[in-house]
Amino acid sequence: MSLLTVEKVTSGYGDMEVLHEVSIAVDSQEIVTIIGPNGAGKSTLMKTIFGLLKPKSGRISFSDHEISALSADRIVRLGMAYVPQVENVFPSLTVRENLEMGAFIRSDDFSGRIREMYDLFPILGRRGRQQVGKMSGGERQMVAMARALMLNPQLILLDEPSAALAPNLAEVIFERIEAINDTGVAILIVEQNARQSLSLSDRGYVLASGRNRFTDTGENLLANEEIGQLYLGG
Ligand SMILES: Nc1ncnc2c1ncn2[C@@H]1O[C@H](COP(=O)(O)OP(=O)(O)OP(=O)(O)O)[C@@H](O)[C@H]1O
Ligand SMILES: [Mg+2]
Repeated sequence: MSLLTVEKVTSGYGDMEVLHEVSIAVDSQEIVTIIGPNGAGKSTLMKTIFGLLKPKSGRISFSDHEISALSADRIVRLGMAYVPQVENVFPSLTVRENLEMGAFIRSDDFSGRIREMYDLFPILGRRGRQQVGKMSGGERQMVAMARALMLNPQLILLDEPSAALAPNLAEVIFERIEAINDTGVAILIVEQNARQSLSLSDRGYVLASGRNRFTDTGENLLANEEIGQLYLGG
């Protein structure tokens, strides 16, 4: 059984349905990327999986638990983490304080986990006391990912981790994503840099107008001419 299973989920905002019977799965330790045009419903899918939007129908299960009706604070405790597309750090707090906020439900000593995060993102280790609002976009994204990892999740949802970053910084972020995955964490990514993200993904899904369009291995999606023309910029 998959670590995360989304089955025929319909979801949206108020009366407006954005996702129509969307199904995806992520296995343990996999990297899976969701691509699709602006407004396709990618962020809505992430929010629905994480319990910030309640599905109107369908079923979501994670790590042998049905989570469709659970709130985000319950889902976090089951081992899922989420880095939103925007507003994903506390800008007025320091790097270290952001990581401490990420550990908010831990009552044990998490200083070892902070050290592991500084090993994974050495630049953060050197900037522990810096206010995050004054850091660059790439550095802020590293803080957001490290904060989400503080609870040792089994699965992390990343919504556009390389958005608005210069290509060399995007490269660094993708390399860190692979390093996180190497520690045994499954990763579900939504990305505009679709080629880069698919190239490190086990599998990918194309979402368009709130519906499943295609799914295949990352490699096959990259090699598919129709997908290339329609969704990967030719
Ligand atoms: N908070 C909200 N309230 C109402 N409608 C929303 C809200 N957030 C998103 N929508 C609408 O839902 C649809 C899907 O938006 P969503 O953000 O999921 O798309 P996306 O695929 O993530 O797009 P992008 O690539 O631009 O991030 C859009 O029509 C959008 O206008
Ligand atoms: Mg989005």
